[in-house]
Amino acid sequence: MPIPCALVSGSCGLIGSEVSVFFARNGYKIVGIDDNDRAVFFGPDGDTSWVLSRLQREIPGYRHEALDIRNRAALLDLVAEVKPALTIHTAAQPSHDRAAAIPFLDFEVNALGTLNMLEAARQFCPESPFIHMSTNKVYGDRPNTIRLRELETRWDYDDPAYTNGIAEDLSIDQSKHSLFGASKVAADVMVQEYGRYFSMPTCCLRGGCLTGPNHSGVELHGFLSYLIKCNVQEREYKVYGYKGKQVRDNIHSEDVARFMFEFSKAPRVAEVYNLGGGKENSCSILEAFGMAEQITGQPMKWQYVEQNRSGDHICYYSDLRKMKAHYPAWGVTRSLPSTFEEIAASHLARAAAR
Ligand SMILES: NC(=O)c1ccc[n+]([C@@H]2O[C@H](COP(=O)([O-])OP(=O)(O)OC[C@H]3O[C@@H](n4cnc5c(N)ncnc54)[C@H](O)[C@@H]3O)[C@@H](O)[C@H]2O)c1
Repeated sequence: MPIPCALVSGSCGLIGSEVSVFFARNGYKIVGIDDNDRAVFFGPDGDTSWVLSRLQREIPGYRHEALDIRNRAALLDLVAEVKPALTIHTAAQPSHDRAAAIPFLDFEVNALGTLNMLEAARQFCPESPFIHMSTNKVYGDRPNTIRLRELETRWDYDDPAYTNGIAEDLSIDQSKHSLFGASKVAADVMVQEYGRYFSMPTCCLRGGCLTGPNHSGVELHGFLSYLIKCNVQEREYKVYGYKGKQVRDNIHSEDVARFMFEFSKAPRVAEVYNLGGGKENSCSILEAFGMAEQITGQPMKWQYVEQNRSGDHICYYSDLRKMKAHYPAWGVTRSLPSTFEEIAASHLARAAAR
């Protein structure tokens, strides 16, 4: 039997690299696309070349294409040649705050790049599952309209309708998204449309905080990775507003890959899922400081800035019930403390290797 091929865009990013290793272990040949644009968006701290070396070491037969997904002609040629059995699209400008400074680049990568990926798939492999990494920022700041209560170290929902977190039916319309959120809405709706209009097996995964040891965390993207990096390197971390009690749900990138694997085995059409750690793996920034300090034994240096980030969520955790109902074999397997330990170990190892 021929070896199936998975095409992974953004293969040197947090999710792309995890997915590449995971699917290679599960019998796929991996063709990765990544032109290291993360270094363009975020400077040297965002450079992902260390990840490319790791993929080349760890994945037998890994094929890398340093291709820009905005380059439609080159992308069409590649997909025509490879005809992947599965496409996982993770390449993106991923920062909420960065987008305002680079609006054209943000939209071209996130919206147009996604359209290029979809159209290539429609022309050359329309029956192959197409998995798109979307984001909870498609909901804009709508989650901030849910009634909240203030606890000692975090905010929480004070409305029984959200006891299990945010479900996929929350409106994505008429709220403040940031330019990033808006470019990701365009991509998310387009991925759904290729599903509904062309009957392609597409899905959008609206991520909460996706994390793990392979993130090139920077201040503007990669919350836990950057927070733990600051602790390990004794750098100052800035907290923007909400008393540091803003809540994020965190999911290890391997659990993201495991969900994609379940979807690829039994794909559905035009699906949307909220993918995060859920309530159990949520924490506030203040709580994250405590956990980082416990692991490294080093006090967190931080400064409080009164002004919150524009459109930032006060409290967000995903309702995972739809994912679990559609794919009962899937669940979150990596706890928050063990994920913290892995990230800290990775930053210590990277610092030692310098
Ligand atoms: N990490 C999170 O917390 C999080 C949360 C929600 C959603 N997401 C989404 O998940 C996806 C992956 O996020 P991530 O954290 O792995 O990001 P990442 O920045 O670590 O990875 C993205 C990769 O794509 C590459 N890339 C960017 N533009 C490209 C282009 N034009 N052509 C080719 N490659 C390009 C980058 O160099 C980078 O290696 C993104 O769509 C992001 O919006 C991430």
